[in-house]
Amino acid sequence: MQSESSARSEHSVGHAMLDDDHRKLWLAAQSFRDAALAGNIPHAMSLFERLVTAVQVHFLREELLLAAELAADLEPHRAEHHRLLRQFMLISGDGFRFLRSWPGLAGDLACQLLRQSLDHDLAETDGFPDLEPLPPLPSPGDQLHS
Ligand SMILES: [Fe+2]
Ligand SMILES: [Fe+2]
Repeated sequence: MQSESSARSEHSVGHAMLDDDHRKLWLAAQSFRDAALAGNIPHAMSLFERLVTAVQVHFLREELLLAAELAADLEPHRAEHHRLLRQFMLISGDGFRFLRSWPGLAGDLACQLLRQSLDHDLAETDGFPDLEPLPPLPSPGDQLHS
């Protein structure tokens, strides 16, 4: 009989929204690496900026979810997010000098940083509570009538 834990993917943190974020971020990092390896630097720069924005949004979403349930344990996780973001910014600093000089290394670094982020989340999976999805944002129409 398959246990609940073994039914999960090895990359699952046990929360559908976070797992979906992680999958999309991984695909975005691979697209960036592919563009960098192909030497398409302007396209890689655009993909990188989109990737970093998506990473920032993901970290915030994850922190909001965790803050609701694990306030006492949130700071180490948030510190790890900040550390990873600082490392990501090495790729774009000084007018994307690192990407322009070593595109293959820049692509690999982005993927490795995402891997570290996922590994960190997975290491804490046992500590993740059963998180409820965030409520949907109100539409502009809802705000006008409230
Ligand atoms: Fe995280
Ligand atoms: Fe995450």
